Amino acid sequence: MPTPVPAADVATTPVVVHHRYGPPSVLRADRRPLPVAGPGDVVVAVEAVAVSRAECAFRAADPPVARLATGLRRPRRPVLGGDVGGRVVQVGAGVAGLRTGDRVVAQTGITMGGYAGHVRVPAAAATPVPDGLDVRAAVAVVEGGSTALPFVRDHARVRPGTRLLVNGAAGAVGAAAVQLAAHLGAEVTGVCSTDHVDLVRSLGAVAVVDRTRTRLEDAGGPFDVVLDAVGTSSARRCRHLLAPRGVYLTTVPSLDVLVRTALRPLARGRSAAIAFTGLRPPAARAADVAELLALAGAGTVRGVVDRTWPLAQAAEAHAYVEAGHKAGTVLLLP
Ligand SMILES: NC(=O)c1ccc[n+]([C@@H]2O[C@H](COP(=O)([O-])OP(=O)(O)OC[C@H]3O[C@@H](n4cnc5c(N)ncnc54)[C@H](OP(=O)(O)O)[C@@H]3O)[C@@H](O)[C@H]2O)c1
Repeated sequence: MPTPVPAADVATTPVVVHHRYGPPSVLRADRRPLPVAGPGDVVVAVEAVAVSRAECAFRAADPPVARLATGLRRPRRPVLGGDVGGRVVQVGAGVAGLRTGDRVVAQTGITMGGYAGHVRVPAAAATPVPDGLDVRAAVAVVEGGSTALPFVRDHARVRPGTRLLVNGAAGAVGAAAVQLAAHLGAEVTGVCSTDHVDLVRSLGAVAVVDRTRTRLEDAGGPFDVVLDAVGTSSARRCRHLLAPRGVYLTTVPSLDVLVRTALRPLARGRSAAIAFTGLRPPAARAADVAELLALAGAGTVRGVVDRTWPLAQAAEAHAYVEAGHKAGTVLLLP
């Protein structure tokens, strides 16, 4: 359904909407009335918003099961955008700890809404950006890191000396996983294509496997953990890379990993698992965002920004992201 055009005297903000599922061209520039901060909320003037692989999947309804979350017939939330950075411009009643002018990164969660000039978020979901840290870099750290941190810390249980292989090491999640694991003392091997070898090494990988020259099956090992950050492998393909009691983890669901997680573990004490980090409680996610921004503020992890587009060119950004070869994060700039 087309959005009613706001009356001329109503203050508006630019947005990008999609009212049906389909290719990137379903994304359209529009305007909406400026949001107003309710009790416990802040309004953020958006300076950068990440375009994630999940948002491309939501826009396309691919896989179709995504419709269970986003709306069976048409998108329930026409404005996408889950990881935003910008300045607080309105503070609702009862909000402590945030003031107008503060630079923040906010995760909007399932309500989305970040492909916009302004977005209203619960104050608890907005985390101040440390002085000296660029807002775009902060959004990039949070986009990849909010998935990578629970995988590396909680599921891989990385410790000093852990031998970790990251497949898809140049992507948003992979680039953050390499840095966080290296920071925790792991010996990280990254897998990527030739163009990204130098990047992955600079993020802290002690070894890099160029996937255009070496098959994943020949990546060496043994590894205590194989983390597939892009879902192009399988537990079966990687099982001989694992040390006894080694763990195969993936961010992307497949029949192989679902069956092995629930019913049929890999042989000799090895196991496989998937996790869905976006489903964790908001307080746990906010604590991780604060930790990631503190690490970024201290220079321990850095945000990798691939390309930026103006907000109105969201369709081009989506086409680029879903091609699957970005390094780190793609941003829209309202
Ligand atoms: N489970 C969860 O909670 C969760 C949360 C967030 C994201 N995800 C999912 O995780 C996946 C990755 O997200 P992302 O944002 O990190 O993706 P991304 O940034 O789009 O990943 C792109 C990277 O994948 C690499 N790549 C492409 N084809 C590859 C192949 N055949 N083998 C190895 N690497 C390949 C590319 O590097 P090279 O071309 O250099 O190899 C590129 O740098 C998405 O499917 C996303 O939906 C899951």
